[in-house]
Amino acid sequence: MFVTPLTNHIQVPFPSISFTTNALCEDIGPETQDKNLSEVLKIFSMFQSILWVFTIIQFLVLLLLQQQQWFVNGEEIVTCSGIVPMKYRQDTISITDFGGVGDGHTLNTKAFREAIYRIEHLKRRGGTILYIPPGVFLTGSFNLTSHMTLYLAKGAVIRATQDTSTWPLIAPLPSYGRGRERPGGRYMSFIHGDGLHDVIITGENGTIDGQGDVWWNMWRQRTLQFTRPNLVEFMNSKNIIISNVIFQNSPFWTLHPVYSSNVVIRYVTILAPADSPNTDGIDPDSSSHVCIEDSYISTGDDLVAVKSGWDEYGIKYGRKSYGITIRRVTGSSPFAGIAIGSETSGGVENVLAEHINLFNMGLGIHVKTNIGRGGYIKNITISDVYMENARKGIKIAGDVGDHPDENYDPNALPVVHGVTMRNIWGEKVLQPGSIQGLKNSPFTGICFSNIHLHGVEGPATPLWKCSDVSGTASAVSPSPCAQLTSIPGTGTCLNSF
Ligand SMILES: *[C@@H]1O[C@H](CO)[C@@H](O)[C@H](O)[C@H]1NC(C)=O
Ligand SMILES: *[C@@H]1O[C@H](CO)[C@@H](O)[C@H](O)[C@H]1NC(C)=O
Ligand SMILES: *[C@@H]1O[C@H](CO)[C@@H](O)[C@H](O)[C@H]1NC(C)=O
Repeated sequence: MFVTPLTNHIQVPFPSISFTTNALCEDIGPETQDKNLSEVLKIFSMFQSILWVFTIIQFLVLLLLQQQQWFVNGEEIVTCSGIVPMKYRQDTISITDFGGVGDGHTLNTKAFREAIYRIEHLKRRGGTILYIPPGVFLTGSFNLTSHMTLYLAKGAVIRATQDTSTWPLIAPLPSYGRGRERPGGRYMSFIHGDGLHDVIITGENGTIDGQGDVWWNMWRQRTLQFTRPNLVEFMNSKNIIISNVIFQNSPFWTLHPVYSSNVVIRYVTILAPADSPNTDGIDPDSSSHVCIEDSYISTGDDLVAVKSGWDEYGIKYGRKSYGITIRRVTGSSPFAGIAIGSETSGGVENVLAEHINLFNMGLGIHVKTNIGRGGYIKNITISDVYMENARKGIKIAGDVGDHPDENYDPNALPVVHGVTMRNIWGEKVLQPGSIQGLKNSPFTGICFSNIHLHGVEGPATPLWKCSDVSGTASAVSPSPCAQLTSIPGTGTCLNSF
């Protein structure tokens, strides 16, 4: 009725529908209808077999995913990111629907809290995306909720307010017994999650900006009353993905998964000035199954540091970090690239770090613990590391870091056993390294192979310094200390060459 005049109007040929359908009906007699039915059935069974093929393909893909290997240009790309499957959500809300204004001045705390309240209480099937469009959204700290994706568009910035007086205080972590740097409670992280699951922070490389300089200055001027906030912290949480976001200028540690499991952090960029205090990149803490891959980190402290609480508090809480993979990470720092500790009272084991590129470092690799820590560091493998321009290549030390208070047990000695390092190449490394164990708890199973740390031109090559340590060394230059025997198998080397 309406179509024909319209087609006439826009002068497009339009077939008469009544004519075509009549002709079709005349064509199909009773017999041909039966034939048609069998045709339909044939097509149906064909469709079914196609479905089967799809099911088989799906199964194969799942199998491949379980193998955690991808093939790109015929090359095998190993990844641990399969431990948390990516979730695609239907329901999307924008921060602007809740009055969010991205002008860099308006405070959006209420908008963030209301948007997340809506996600928490409306419980859409499959969860909800909170979309942050391009613009600078200034806000106070806020809590995330389960089944949500915080999605930052290209050019989106979530920026922390510098009004520290409004910052919420929360209880200290039980494995620390107090704030990490000040007694008492601690400031809540800028973006916080407690007891959550199925949370994603991702997007098109938008920025989460902590504007940490006010906090760094309070630290420098010793006017901090409580421990500075992390930029992002997940506590007691699982199935978390953080990807394709730039994190910058954290007040304190940048990403802090604690008492959490199944956490994937990949394709992130973490930035803070080299002189910013305690701005660690990623600190998996009393957490398990953490996958950190394909990221660039340049900060004022350790790039990745695996921890598990400290001294009497960490020993009592007893929650270890294990199953941590750190792969294809590049960065720069006046402290360490890959660090284990120094807070290791709950134990740290089964850590693999590989394909790490470090430039302009204080230290390449730092395994550190302390008297009074108790706990252990076991089965650590670090391989395929390139470092350029570092004060020291490798340091393993048993008496670094401070104590929460004077009540630590000086007889609680940490155990360090099974640290394998292989395929490490350094250029312009001023000192190759040191391994200083504890007299009453010597480090064992320290296995070095194929480690070449080249110094700078100079009169004498500095040597390794070792004490209270046993293990093996093969193809290490400059030549390793005598405590590491050159005959493999004489030290107790866990998963050695
Ligand atoms: C955010 O979470 C913390 C820690 O779980 C809690 O103390 C605080 O009340 C929460 N804040 C809001 C606004 O819900
Ligand atoms: C975001 O950054 C990651 C890591 O640097 C990069 O691989 C990816 O291509 C970027 N994505 C976009 C949309 O720019
Ligand atoms: C040592 O850690 C690796 C992960 O880096 C793990 O695959 C392996 O099973 C662990 N070995 C033992 C004996 O626990």
